[in-house]
Amino acid sequence: MKVVLASHNKKKMAEMKTILSAMGVEVLSQADVGVDLEPEETGTTFAENAAIKAQAVMEATGLPAIADDSGLMVDALNGEPGVYSARYGGPGLDDTGRWQLLLKNMEGIENRACKFVSVICCCFPDGQQLSARGECPGILAHGPTGDGGFGYDPIFYLPELGKTMAQLTPEEKNKISHRAKALAGFQKEWEKQHGTDQ
Ligand code: IMP
Repeated sequence: MKVVLASHNKKKMAEMKTILSAMGVEVLSQADVGVDLEPEETGTTFAENAAIKAQAVMEATGLPAIADDSGLMVDALNGEPGVYSARYGGPGLDDTGRWQLLLKNMEGIENRACKFVSVICCCFPDGQQLSARGECPGILAHGPTGDGGFGYDPIFYLPELGKTMAQLTPEEKNKISHRAKALAGFQKEWEKQHGTDQ
């Protein structure tokens, strides 16, 4: 199966491409098929936003399109930044500015439980839609460690591994991440409906 990735985030695309390629899916970027879409994420849930992105790219290309909508949910902040993770603090901030703001907003708060969430949605030209959700629990660190990954990875501590997500190799992250779990769920759904020979 050939799918177009409906994302512009290069690091996220690289993670998705590695995982999907290992599943035997041929992955194309928007540039490969001559489109350049960045639909507005007007949804209020990960599922809505993933569907908005995948549907727009499927309609523009006529090919199956797959999108991830993801973010960090912090228990003590009632799930924030959640679907607004990429926009936390407004357009003036980069990844570092966003996690710095989050740490500031968490000053003095003892409950550091949080989770990464990813919802994968694949839209097919025949109108079929498949989606799956993955979660990865963690603890919000008090400062950054590591320089791998992207986004909130430097402050996302994994107690069982004794490391932040940014200290993992790409291979390690791709085994345990919310995105890997969502893509594995997607693959299971796909195989249930279509068998393993696609
Ligand atoms: P989206 O493009 O709207 O799905 O934005 C996802 C945002 O959530 C990213 O820009 C990051 O801030 C955050 N995020 C999602 N997945 C990860 C991850 O694997 N590591 C760190 N941050 C992530």
